[in-house]
Amino acid sequence: MSNVADFDAVELIRLKRDGGHLPAAAIDWLINAYTAGHVTDEQMSAMAMAIFFRGLERDELSRWTAAMIATGERMDFSSLTRPTVDKHSTGGVGDKITLPLAPLVAACGAAVPQLSGRGLGHTGGTLDKLEAIPGWRASLSNAEMLAQLEEVGAVICAAGAGLAPADKKLYALRDVTATIESVPMISASIMSKKIAEGTASLVLDVKTGAGAFMKTREQSRALATTMVEIGKDAGVNTVALITAMDAPLGRTAGNGVEVAESVEVLAGGGPSDVVELTIALAQEMLTCAGIDADPAQVLASGKAMDTWKAMIRAQGGDPDAPLPTPKHTEVVTADADGYLADLDAMAVGLAAWRLGAGRAKQGDPVQAAAGVTWHAGIGDPVRTGQPLFSLHTDTPERIERARQALAGAATIGSAPVTPGPIVLERIS
Ligand code: URA
Repeated sequence: MSNVADFDAVELIRLKRDGGHLPAAAIDWLINAYTAGHVTDEQMSAMAMAIFFRGLERDELSRWTAAMIATGERMDFSSLTRPTVDKHSTGGVGDKITLPLAPLVAACGAAVPQLSGRGLGHTGGTLDKLEAIPGWRASLSNAEMLAQLEEVGAVICAAGAGLAPADKKLYALRDVTATIESVPMISASIMSKKIAEGTASLVLDVKTGAGAFMKTREQSRALATTMVEIGKDAGVNTVALITAMDAPLGRTAGNGVEVAESVEVLAGGGPSDVVELTIALAQEMLTCAGIDADPAQVLASGKAMDTWKAMIRAQGGDPDAPLPTPKHTEVVTADADGYLADLDAMAVGLAAWRLGAGRAKQGDPVQAAAGVTWHAGIGDPVRTGQPLFSLHTDTPERIERARQALAGAATIGSAPVTPGPIVLERIS
């Protein structure tokens, strides 16, 4: 543990402000001293702004990430007989891929420790979705998690507060000082939590496009490359896929509706984009874990569905119980004939959020049955008067604002459209 008098925060801020290189020991000290309250919020926000403009070199960033990990616990899965592999998505509308993916990869022989979060803003949280299943619980002890990983192979549960506490404090500070949008700090933030989870391999799904955190291919590539470098420097076998997030994924955004769609995929159906991305990520995860299996064949065999059921049961849920149904559903119809040329992911995410699927601030409740279903995918023919969206909620006073969010969200063109590829690039 560093001595609090080892370095001077003002000198370090000045060094980075002027484009200098932070020594490794200074980074360790800064992160520790900030987490312990010896470096003030004012000083750390000045440092965050200096990093926003000056960046961090690869060695500085790997050290920064390691120092954040060292402020908390690091999980240890070395006792497992299965190889561990995890996935992280930078977040997109309708992104329910974790739900079919974790049991699919587990059914192929890996252990998938998915420590997830609750949603905030326009993208939903994996735990909020799974909590739509009657009885399912998100909190597991470390011992329960290890036992489930060995027996079932997949766990999706809440990340404890013990992982990288420095990130929690720094993220809250960045949020109120306009320093979130920095590739090195986003990368360190995501990777500190993922590396602390103790997985041997990691596949990153970095979204790009109008509905993503990163809007351009260049930004997404920079984020993916930086995260892959941090992972490798920490000894985690890391690969990234850059995937499209202009239109929302699948046909649903919300909680219970996304669980239902994931179960359709596990049953061998479901929207083609969700199936394609699930298989592509599963293939990457299996390759990283050194497992020779064909995920498409395992999905078709029904083994992934068996693992899903075992995973839900192990966490108290009833996989065969009906999912909650909304008290109100309202249909929005198409106002033109043609082909669905574009669907604005942000607008769909906002509508689902306004219907009650998401929360405005941490700790708010979410509605299990709220969300949006869209009845056509990109390229599908639509006819005037046919249902385009179904809006689900328990509180009908929310519907008007959701309708407003969706006004102009769907572009109907007269010429046939071919949907673009989902997986755009691979970075290793
Ligand atoms: N997600 C994170 O966990 N951290 C960031 O900085 C941005 C997105």
